[in-house]
Amino acid sequence: MAILKIARMGNPILLQKCEPVANPGAPEIRRLVADMMQTMEDAPGVGLAGPQVYVPLRLFVFRVPAERASADPAARAVPNTVLINPEIEPIGEEIGLNWEGCLSIPEMRAVVPRALRIRYRGVDCDGNVIEGEAHRFHARIMQHENDHLNGILYPMRVTDFRYFGFNAELDRAAEEQRRQQQEQQQQADGQ
Ligand code: NI
Repeated sequence: MAILKIARMGNPILLQKCEPVANPGAPEIRRLVADMMQTMEDAPGVGLAGPQVYVPLRLFVFRVPAERASADPAARAVPNTVLINPEIEPIGEEIGLNWEGCLSIPEMRAVVPRALRIRYRGVDCDGNVIEGEAHRFHARIMQHENDHLNGILYPMRVTDFRYFGFNAELDRAAEEQRRQQQEQQQQADGQ
């Protein structure tokens, strides 16, 4: 297995519409998927799509770490999973807003609107059909990764650019806001 080089925003490969995988069981696809999983864990990230590692094919890997799942009572952890030739459709109209990052856009994040519930279908490297419903964080990751296969990066989905920035600055601002609120609370308690 190998850690693969990750293409960064600005590289035209990230803007391409990817081609379907003709033979999901081919040894080179199996090897690619294993390398993508290793690369995702090493980064570390929660999803990685073909074009991000310079392979413009319709497949992505993802995972929902236990710590992310535990923040949401409706969520469950998902181990490293591959979805080849995925089809994703929203269920219902409900949209959620949450922070999102991307391994191709290091050190930044933004608030991105996504469908809260989706239905997905694809195959794995053994040709097994993988299908089901995903909610919230799990659904968000799959929509983000599926977008990569159509040349869409998350900044193209941002609706309010006040919530787009460098992690270090956003963390600092959030910390400052917390401190101010604490101070106000202490003043209120003291009166
Ligand atoms: Ni991404």
